[in-house]
Amino acid sequence: MILKLVIFIIFANLNSSLGQVLSCSYRIDNNGYTCDLTIQNPNGLNNFGSIGGTHLSGRTDNDVRRILNVSGSNTTNIPSILCDKFQSVTGVYLNEIGIQTVDEKAFKNCKKLLYLYLDYNKITKVDEKALNENTEIVFLKFSHNQLTGLPENVFKSQQKLNTLSLGLNKISDLPEKIFSSLKMLSYLDLQHNQIKNLKINWFLQLENLNTLVIGGNQIEELPRNIFMSLKKLEYIHIYSNKFKVIHSGSFRGLSNLKNIILYKNQIQAIDEEFIDTTGVQRIDMSNNFCLNQSIFDNSTTKMPMRLALQTCFKNFDDLIPSRISKLEEDLNNVALDFQNQNQQLTSTINKLQLTVNNLTAENIKIRSEMKNITKVNEAIQSDLENFITLVDTISKDQSSLKNEVKNQTLIITALMDENKNQCSIIRDQGLTIENQGEQITNLQEENQQLRAITKELQESLEEQAKNFEELKHLVYELSSRPCACK
Ligand SMILES: *[C@@H]1O[C@H](CO)[C@@H](O)[C@H](O)[C@H]1NC(C)=O
Ligand SMILES: *[C@@H]1O[C@H](CO)[C@@H](O)[C@H](O)[C@H]1NC(C)=O
Ligand SMILES: *[C@@H]1O[C@H](CO)[C@@H](O)[C@H](O)[C@H]1NC(C)=O
Ligand SMILES: *[C@@H]1O[C@H](CO)[C@@H](O)[C@H](O)[C@H]1NC(C)=O
Ligand SMILES: *[C@@H]1O[C@H](CO)[C@@H](O)[C@H](O)[C@H]1NC(C)=O
Ligand SMILES: *[C@@H]1O[C@H](CO)[C@@H](O)[C@H](O)[C@H]1NC(C)=O
Ligand SMILES: *[C@@H]1O[C@H](CO)[C@@H](O)[C@H](O)[C@H]1NC(C)=O
Repeated sequence: MILKLVIFIIFANLNSSLGQVLSCSYRIDNNGYTCDLTIQNPNGLNNFGSIGGTHLSGRTDNDVRRILNVSGSNTTNIPSILCDKFQSVTGVYLNEIGIQTVDEKAFKNCKKLLYLYLDYNKITKVDEKALNENTEIVFLKFSHNQLTGLPENVFKSQQKLNTLSLGLNKISDLPEKIFSSLKMLSYLDLQHNQIKNLKINWFLQLENLNTLVIGGNQIEELPRNIFMSLKKLEYIHIYSNKFKVIHSGSFRGLSNLKNIILYKNQIQAIDEEFIDTTGVQRIDMSNNFCLNQSIFDNSTTKMPMRLALQTCFKNFDDLIPSRISKLEEDLNNVALDFQNQNQQLTSTINKLQLTVNNLTAENIKIRSEMKNITKVNEAIQSDLENFITLVDTISKDQSSLKNEVKNQTLIITALMDENKNQCSIIRDQGLTIENQGEQITNLQEENQQLRAITKELQESLEEQAKNFEELKHLVYELSSRPCACK
């Protein structure tokens, strides 16, 4: 107990003295500058600030081309610090170190990645975006893990992928379009999983596929025309499944097919027309019911292969005794195909109808919006017209005002002229008045003289009046005396 404790303490000290969960031992080999990675991260932490280890002289993080795990390493995830730090890495090889999940950021900054090997781990989940940034990947290996499925878009960015290994997992099904971006895929390995049914859409886009390995599953039927798009397929490995009968058309369209590996099935009958290609060189039929051997076609004709397969062909004829029933079966198949296609078309039509409905609705909406816009437009236009007439009126007003101003100016000028005239008249009148004043003064003087004369006259008049009285008096006095003269 104490010993254990001591060992624990020493180990803990050792760990903390190293201070690093991740550390690299750097070296150069034929494949470039390499980090042999030691990682002890059983709890899947992802918050690391640094990676231990010392670079070889003159080398930096950016020179690292490969990351390989050191045996005995242990982690449940792939800490994103690896790709954050070694962004020029082209190969990541992390095999058998206990990885359980590949999360969104695991390889985000390894944009130059060509080779990714994650075999012999315990991976159950790969994030849909985990490989989004890794457009250059050529080799991708996930074999010997515990995958039961994968998200539909997980390989969306792998347009250059050559080899994809998903063998030895627990995959029972995969989304229809999971491989639809893999135009360059040459090798697809799905062996030893739990697939029961092949989906025709898996293979539709794999125009460069050379080898298909789907042995070790539980497939019972090869749907007609399933491999039809695989124009470059040369090797097909469908050993260890549960096929009983190989129908005509199972390998239809495979003009480059060379090897068909069918061993360890339960094949008891084969339609004679199943090979409609001329290039097939080898069929491995060992461990089947109607034939237990490999057949090589060493001649230019198909005869030896046909001869060897005769029992199987005969069984097929026995299985479907008359030509008529065979034709019936073909007809049925055609009808089925037709039905399938019909169904697909119907569903497509329905979808289209929905789209049309949506578009119509949108159209109506847009039209009403357009009507509104037209209305607004019209209003704006009428406003504009009003504005223009307003501007017109204003400019007319302005010109008439100008005219008026001109007229007024003229009037004012005229008035000023008149004024000038009046002034001169007034001046003239002033002069006249002055003259008149003078005349008045003269008249006044004359008047005074006249008055003085008048006064003199009056005084003389008064004297005459007085004289007259005296005379009167005298007359009176004379008249009252007795008249002597009577
Ligand atoms: C990685 O570790 C595993 C398990 O310890 C080991 O089997 C494998 O060889 C290691 N890989 C390399 C490249 O050393
Ligand atoms: C990793 O460590 C855990 C516990 O620390 C252990 O259970 C597991 O088996 C180890 N895995 C590998 C691959 O060594
Ligand atoms: C081939 O082997 C199977 C068992 O795998 C056996 O049942 C069958 O009879 C054999 N057929 C021939 C023709 O030998
Ligand atoms: C036929 O070809 C196979 C392999 O291609 C070879 O092993 C076999 O000996 C050849 N048989 C004959 C009769 O040429
Ligand atoms: C139609 O529109 C609805 C709601 O806008 C949408 O949910 C649906 O996916 C659309 N269907 C098609 C076929 O575009
Ligand atoms: C059109 O205008 C009317 C009234 O202004 C409004 O109620 C209606 O929502 C508008 N339609 C659109 C599609 O904008
Ligand atoms: C300016 O005078 C001319 C001539 O006298 C006349 O015809 C015109 O109507 C006048 N314009 C205004 C704005 O008064």
